[in-house]
Amino acid sequence: MEVLSVASEVYPLIKTGGLADVTGALPAALAKNGVTMRTLVPGYPAVMGKLGPMREVHAFADLFGVTGRLLAGRVDGLDLIVLDAPALYDRPGNPYVGPEGWDWPDNWKRFAALSWVASELGLGLVEGYRPQIIHAHDWQAGLTAAYVKYGPSSTLKTVMTVHNMAFQGTYGGDIFGQLRLPPHAYSIEGVEYFGGIGYLKAGVECADVVTTVSPTYSAEIRTPAFGMGLDGLLNNRSQTVFGILNGIDMEAWNPATDASLRSTYTGNSLLSRQTNKAAVQEAFGLEATDSPLFSVVSRLTWQKGIDLIVANIDMMVAEGVQLAVLGSGETELENAVRAAAARHPGRVGLITGYNEQLSHLVQGGADVMMVPSRFEPCGLTQLYALRYGCIPLVSRVGGLNDTVIDANVAALQAEVATGVQFAPPTAEALADAVRRTLALYADDKSWKKMQRRGMKSDVSWESSAARYAQLYASLIGLKTDDDS
Ligand code: ADP
Ligand code: GLC
Repeated sequence: MEVLSVASEVYPLIKTGGLADVTGALPAALAKNGVTMRTLVPGYPAVMGKLGPMREVHAFADLFGVTGRLLAGRVDGLDLIVLDAPALYDRPGNPYVGPEGWDWPDNWKRFAALSWVASELGLGLVEGYRPQIIHAHDWQAGLTAAYVKYGPSSTLKTVMTVHNMAFQGTYGGDIFGQLRLPPHAYSIEGVEYFGGIGYLKAGVECADVVTTVSPTYSAEIRTPAFGMGLDGLLNNRSQTVFGILNGIDMEAWNPATDASLRSTYTGNSLLSRQTNKAAVQEAFGLEATDSPLFSVVSRLTWQKGIDLIVANIDMMVAEGVQLAVLGSGETELENAVRAAAARHPGRVGLITGYNEQLSHLVQGGADVMMVPSRFEPCGLTQLYALRYGCIPLVSRVGGLNDTVIDANVAALQAEVATGVQFAPPTAEALADAVRRTLALYADDKSWKKMQRRGMKSDVSWESSAARYAQLYASLIGLKTDDDS
């Protein structure tokens, strides 16, 4: 099976969040299931800078008013097709926002172009390459399914994966004339969304199949509280909406071999985590103590419930906790964590900015990873935490619900607990969860057992990649072993 994946991010070339981890790891996992996946990404400077020798396979004289070309080749084990269009993508920093923190005003065009090119590739733009399915990720690739639906009829199928309902790519109707879609696409069955245009909406409406990244989130988004305006649409097509849990790259994230750690370890050498803990304390300016070290590696946003942590920091410090926060995001939240660090020198540390290596070290050294999200489509941080024996303390939503087994009485008795969950996502419920976590930490023997259990949980892509492969096969009418 030939599948073209189209996404704005792919690890290790360009990453602002979990989307990149997923699009970066899925192709290799799918290869084991008989799926050949190429990935179309925009030629951001970070991407262009990492390319080796590439073949130019197409040139566009008029790509939404600019010129561009397609470069194909293998990079870091990925089969890439890069859309090199400097007028659209050759900009410094974050892929979506300019230096002032505002969305680039032509984002509608940058991602319409990406999606349009994907659909053209699907129709055989490049000789010798004709994918049977296009798998589009998030709003940036959302229009792909609309271009396919309103394009020349073909057998091409589309899958739309929603990684986060909160980012939808909505624009005024005035851009419609420039989107290269026929007039009737500006309708409820097409790209129209509350009087304007919705890129994610278009994908969710027009794709043959919609997936999201965990079973719980796939149910949640069919309710007004989580659907963010798309719940009605998802309910209408509920038979073709699936929740397939993300996995992680088991090689990039392996505590036994991870070069970002000061000391590598396995479930049998958990004591070595102490060395990493000391390294984390050093990095975050924390006292070298054996206090329980809680951590956060996250975008600092409302979604991630960072304000719930802020509300509890003084209590946590009073209970003897140290806290290391790695992340950046909303200014107010950054400032609130910074103020807490100033109030509690040696006990609370903040490192802003994006640091992949440090994120590994934190997972390998901290005792607890906090993920108190208000909503979480899947969440990868808690999966890395499980793999690294860093106990996840999470809210009971989305993928967090599906991946962490709460240390409640029954789970402890059955010896299956892998972390701590709380609900609802409020500061009070988090406070209780912190205290419960501390009580568990005090029992060293059962804590270590819980760490080892987490390290053994299956967080790989194996079963989920097989599910994607099965879904692709069903779309193009192939039988798989699993069907028989
Ligand atoms: P989301 O994509 O919603 O931000 P995920 O949990 O799916 O959440 O993925 C977040 C990814 O980004 C993880 O790989 C996490 O380690 C990483 N990450 C978040 N903040 C930082 C940071 N400041 N430095 C390094 N990695 C980070
Ligand atoms: C989004 C979600 C996150 C998910 C990631 C990868 O960024 O917020 O929960 O893990 O996509 O699917």
